[in-house]
Amino acid sequence: MSLGYYDWLVKVIVLGDSGVGKTNILTQFCDQKFSQNYTATIGVDFKIKILNVQDKKIKLQIWDTAGQERFRNITQTYYKGAFGIIFVYSLIDRNSFNNVEGWIKSILESTTDEVCSILVGNKLDSQDRRVQTAEGEKLAQKYNMPFIETSALENKNIQDIFDRLGQNLKIRLENEGQKVSNNTHTQSGQFKLNQEANQTEQPTSSCNSC
Ligand code: GTP
Ligand code: MG
Repeated sequence: MSLGYYDWLVKVIVLGDSGVGKTNILTQFCDQKFSQNYTATIGVDFKIKILNVQDKKIKLQIWDTAGQERFRNITQTYYKGAFGIIFVYSLIDRNSFNNVEGWIKSILESTTDEVCSILVGNKLDSQDRRVQTAEGEKLAQKYNMPFIETSALENKNIQDIFDRLGQNLKIRLENEGQKVSNNTHTQSGQFKLNQEANQTEQPTSSCNSC
């Protein structure tokens, strides 16, 4: 088995308001790094990480989108082909929680594909909580997705986001019966598996792998 072996390649996008911690969740997950300084994501960025789910390897191509409104047109062009979606809000920012349904609807409007999603309430370390756990759970139930509270700062439950998403991805992928040798899948939608970084899409900012 070569080092680059994987069973599936899956596009995942991370959505949510500006400042909720999307980029830091990803830098913790991929690079074990956290930055106190806020540097807004410009357009989109992406990272690659292999996730082990039981006996399978899922190569995640994770697109970190900008939460700022002015980038909305750019980020929406990256929805296409996403198979996993991570919706993030901040536990200390009530507005970011209220806006989650808007993010969910923006996906529903732009794709007919069935996606695997997870709802994440971030900044669990903070004392200034504005959104209760039960509220997050209720919203997640409404959209039939798992829910998790995390702290990127303390690296709490960050790996769990991807493990839980990975479990659902694996079930879906196995149900679809896709194998690495199949290049493109269009049976129930437009998502594509097992393609190296989508040739037509390039991030507008830096490209990192991990
Ligand atoms: P955009 O790129 O503008 O969409 O923002 P973002 O969602 O990527 O947020 P980012 O990861 O840049 O984090 C915004 C700010 O929140 C930064 O100052 C981080 O240090 C801080 N932050 C991120 N995660 C946490 C966390 O878990 N706890 C605390 N206390 N602060 C966090
Ligand atoms: Mg960001």
